[in-house]
Amino acid sequence: MRSADLVVAGCRELLTCAGPLPKRGRALGEVGVVENGWVASSQGLVVYAGDEADFLAEVAPEPGAVTIDGRNLVALPGFVDAHTHLPFAGDRAREFGLRIQGWTYQQLAERGMGIQTTVKATRAASLDDLVALSLKRLDRMLLHGTTTVEAKSGYGLNLDDEIKQLEALRDAAALHPVDVIPTFMGAHEVAPEYKDRREEYIGLLIDTVIPEIGRRGLAEFFDIFSEPGVFSIEETRRLVEAAKAAGFRIKVHADEFVSQGGAELAAEVGAVSAEHLIAISDEGIARLGASDTAAILLPGVSFFLMLAKRAPARRLIEAGAAVALSTDFNPGSSHIFSMPFILQLGVFTLGLTVEEAVNACTGNAAYAIRRHGTVGSLEPGKRMDLILCDVPDHVSLAYEAGRNPVRTVIKNGKVVVEDGRRVTAP
Ligand code: NIG
Ligand code: FE
Repeated sequence: MRSADLVVAGCRELLTCAGPLPKRGRALGEVGVVENGWVASSQGLVVYAGDEADFLAEVAPEPGAVTIDGRNLVALPGFVDAHTHLPFAGDRAREFGLRIQGWTYQQLAERGMGIQTTVKATRAASLDDLVALSLKRLDRMLLHGTTTVEAKSGYGLNLDDEIKQLEALRDAAALHPVDVIPTFMGAHEVAPEYKDRREEYIGLLIDTVIPEIGRRGLAEFFDIFSEPGVFSIEETRRLVEAAKAAGFRIKVHADEFVSQGGAELAAEVGAVSAEHLIAISDEGIARLGASDTAAILLPGVSFFLMLAKRAPARRLIEAGAAVALSTDFNPGSSHIFSMPFILQLGVFTLGLTVEEAVNACTGNAAYAIRRHGTVGSLEPGKRMDLILCDVPDHVSLAYEAGRNPVRTVIKNGKVVVEDGRRVTAP
């Protein structure tokens, strides 16, 4: 018998999302539905996930174990949001107004707005400001079922302000149940004061900023906006080499608007993930399909920028790519923190089935930040990160479009959201 200090009992449906990760091709559609499903954990780790009969035969809840009634609820792993730009200051509501009038994201950027607007606000913010903003956003994400989040810097664009963003993530993470995985993105854009001296900015990153952030251990991943007009393929290659030498694992914002072979390069350099891929080439699809580089799709961007063009999700799945979905939460191109909404956009705008979208928001998203050994599915030995949704069946996670179905969130075996509200320690 396995002992348990927490039991989630009798869920209408349990989606374990069990099985080898990442899920590719047909496997992406397998979520392991168990009707009348039970999950048990001990000291924050899952000890059982399955049906009632085996639960009764194999699990002995400790005296005083917490029991949560899953009747009429659908249980699944907590969402993993593998791509966000969490620690920024200010907003771009005024620029959003211009976009509604027909300005494009690129036109705003060419006129010194866009990312540069947020760089100004983020440089002006204090560390405490950024911690407070990050905590507020983490709360909102948690209420929508996110239990692990990747978060990028990239609005400081100098050593001190990049460090400030990454320290804000570290400090916010220490105060919040959501796990925060930090990514250094000093190559988000050429800093405004280096506008006409881009080679000097690249040199600053390679000689000073990348090694220093690496030494301080403030980030696990290095990410770069590889896009014509931002960083070219050759510049991407040089910066990626420098980041690898400093000990970072690599992520690439690739083929977001115009393909310059970013996905191909990501696969070639062994990047953990290539992200966006709205404009990915045929060659890029084939290369990602044959690689360990995850394809993180961000359907919030096409939605939020009102683009007809979307990432070719079905073709990527057919090619065997490890497809994940994430929010890209940021003030300009996807001001969206809700993973249920992203799951819905995956179904409605990328043509994923609900089951594929669930795996893309959980196990495959965990793979895309290399946390698939600990989170992303409900299997013995993994973290007890579980959400309970008040929908009649898992298809309704998408069918009830626009709704946040998350009622209960369990993080590391502790109830942190109950009845749609944050539970704070007494
Ligand atoms: O993922 N593409 C570059 N970076 C973000 C947008 C950042 C911003 O607009 O502030 C993205 O779309
Ligand atoms: Fe992004």
